[in-house]
Amino acid sequence: MDTLVRVLYIIAFALFIYGLSGLTGPKTAVRGNKIAAAGMVVAVVATLLRVDHNWVLIVVGLIVGTVLGVPSARRVKMTAMPQMVALFNGVGGGAVALIAWSEFRTSDGFTGTPGHVVIASMFAALVGSVSFWGSLVAFGKLQEILPGRPMGLGKAQQGVNALLLAASVACAVVAGLGGAAQVWVILLLVLAAVLGVMVVIPIGGADMPVVISLLNALTGLSAAAAGLALDNTAMIVAGMIVGASGSILTNQMAVAMNRTIPAIVAGGFGGGGALASGGDGEEARTVRSTSASDAAIQMAYAAQVIVVPGYGMAVAQAQHAVKDMAKLLQAKGVEVKYAIHPVAGRMPGHMNVLLAEADVAYDALKEMDEINDEFARTDVTLVIGANDVTNPAARTDPSSPIHGMPILNVDESRQVIVLKRSMNSGFAGIDNPLFYADRTTMLFGDAKKSVLEVTEELKAL
Ligand code: TAP
Repeated sequence: MDTLVRVLYIIAFALFIYGLSGLTGPKTAVRGNKIAAAGMVVAVVATLLRVDHNWVLIVVGLIVGTVLGVPSARRVKMTAMPQMVALFNGVGGGAVALIAWSEFRTSDGFTGTPGHVVIASMFAALVGSVSFWGSLVAFGKLQEILPGRPMGLGKAQQGVNALLLAASVACAVVAGLGGAAQVWVILLLVLAAVLGVMVVIPIGGADMPVVISLLNALTGLSAAAAGLALDNTAMIVAGMIVGASGSILTNQMAVAMNRTIPAIVAGGFGGGGALASGGDGEEARTVRSTSASDAAIQMAYAAQVIVVPGYGMAVAQAQHAVKDMAKLLQAKGVEVKYAIHPVAGRMPGHMNVLLAEADVAYDALKEMDEINDEFARTDVTLVIGANDVTNPAARTDPSSPIHGMPILNVDESRQVIVLKRSMNSGFAGIDNPLFYADRTTMLFGDAKKSVLEVTEELKAL
């Protein structure tokens, strides 16, 4: 039986890694996901073959998980995916923390347990609990159950967090030394829970994707530690894959927002909501609005149009309409490219996924570094529901909360048409000077409706 389990685990790992490699491109992502899911089924079956189980509890667990998980995953909107990921990730961390607690109980307070198992269990309990509670706060913020703005204890926050961490580690040491009362593990879980809440609550909405990715990586590491404790290779390998890929993704996102991970965890940035208002002395600025027919004429006579999609395109579900409009423009000899900012939308790869769903040719999607030099020689840039990722204040205004974040150089384009519903701010909750620039006109309205109107006008030209 042992050999069979090992062989099944090796098959599962191969499927995880092969599936993960499919996630590197939109064309292969769905298949990659299915392959990795098949790997997980193999790993679960192999684990169930390992020892005797309480089958009733396992079946009840499977039913509860399926009844809660499948409908919510099917019904979730693309725009709510980050909070869904936060929730699922948090549940993983919580499960790991409970496994560690159960290890403590079944080994009678770690009596006679090897040192590496004790250390791994306590690490899993601490990090799993931080990850569970931190993820719940992240979910609450993105779901707008909790305010998205940074909240916390101000300057005292770092000190309080350090104290909580030290106290959690102290409980872990006492519990790990063996024979200690269960209260130390419970105290450890509670202190780590407060730490998880305290770490995430001061972080503003705009940094939330990075935080979720970081918590995801932590969950992976805690699962790997629990795998060490349980001598379960499947958990070690799967946990390390999540830990490593989550860490790489966290770093890539932090770089795309020009933030360091410690600065993000230190909190105090972004938050969404109302438009930042200027002081009394702020000069009155005007925006120029345009019509669908003018926008159509501008684009029809352009040599090149760059489409800049953002979160508003996802909200409006305008991707299919955008693809049809682009086809018309191409038929008129206009070159159409899409400029994809790494944090446009609300989750990594959000724009790629939407545009791939609409069958936009993958080679028309250009990453920021690839396209940024082209804006200056582009006739028209069409911004569809993007805001923060086009904000020149990130380059020019050292007092801006997004200063230093790399942006798409839309303001260098010869003409800019912005499709959005109002002058409301984007996720970072700040004003965007691009909208007031001489070369910019605004086409107000729902992005899908506006694109459909422009398309009708293009047909009539
Ligand atoms: P945002 O800056 O959030 O701006 C989106 C704009 O879309 C809003 O200003 C909104 O203006 C407009 N909009 C909303 N619904 C619309 C609709 N139906 N039709 C037309 N316009 C609509 O988006 P962005 O430029 O994509 O930037 C992303 C931001 O989110 C960044 O700050 C980023 O850091 C943050 N973030 C990113 C991620 C990832 S990993 N991608 C995850 C979470 C947060 P109106 O209300 O006036 O229409």
